[in-house]
Amino acid sequence: MNTISELSKEQILRTLDDALEFAKGKTMKIAGQVFVSNLFFEDSTRTKISFDIAERKLGLEVIPFDTATSSVNKGETLYDTVKTLESIGVQLAVIRHSKNEFYRDLKGISIPVINAGDGTGNHPSQTMLDLMTIRQEFGDFKNLKIAIAGDIKHSRVANSLSDALRMLGAKVYVSGPREWFDVGSFMNGSYVDMDDLIPEVDVIMLLRIQHERHAQSFSTEEYLQRYGLTKAREQKMKPNAIIMHPAPVNRGVEIDSDLVECPRSRIFTQMENGVYARMAILKNTLEKNGFKFS
Ligand code: CP
Repeated sequence: MNTISELSKEQILRTLDDALEFAKGKTMKIAGQVFVSNLFFEDSTRTKISFDIAERKLGLEVIPFDTATSSVNKGETLYDTVKTLESIGVQLAVIRHSKNEFYRDLKGISIPVINAGDGTGNHPSQTMLDLMTIRQEFGDFKNLKIAIAGDIKHSRVANSLSDALRMLGAKVYVSGPREWFDVGSFMNGSYVDMDDLIPEVDVIMLLRIQHERHAQSFSTEEYLQRYGLTKAREQKMKPNAIIMHPAPVNRGVEIDSDLVECPRSRIFTQMENGVYARMAILKNTLEKNGFKFS
């Protein structure tokens, strides 16, 4: 799976059904010995560890791959690295890479590849866990008002999630610094100021400033007051509205530190759901490629 958009609405909903079943305790094991590897060329805590746990829960054998000690450092290309793993016996690869659409370089690869985040492009497994969290909370997506706020322009999370939410019938709004918002190229220009947005939405998804992708900076306090979720703004949210964030969180920047674990926050639920969503993605990808589960 390279992007969420390659899945139909029905495929997304079926994957969410599987993820919710796994969350309720359903177990499945792969038939026979199947080797998988997680290739993370960009830093990760949540995505890498939760793929690792999801794979082990499904009975897959996880072959360690460390970019710091691999032959990538001798100039080997991504294609040759994945082709090598495929030749040696790895049967599925999960890849995170700083290059947008890195998967286009892997046309000659036969094993399934799951995109764990490509540059500022897409982050489909994050989208699946975000959708799972919203569905757990509200049951359906139709007419939900969902705000994505922050570093929209550089966020692969925003790209993936907005496409999927609109496909599922939710209304998507964006907010944050205007210089990080390309009018006309993102969500039909539906920019809304944070103070107008907060009382209206069912979900506020806050985004981290992607310091690794650009040099623009704000002072912490200025950013929080102008664009972030302060305690005063949280008080104006609808009674059942929830707070989400893909994390890592910059506490005190996009969200007041005290709100990270407040009753409305689903930030750590998202992380827990990441294991189940990734189990569902792995199951569906492997089944599509002829592997069997018992
Ligand atoms: N949300 C997310 O992708 O976190 P990591 O970078 O820690 O994987």
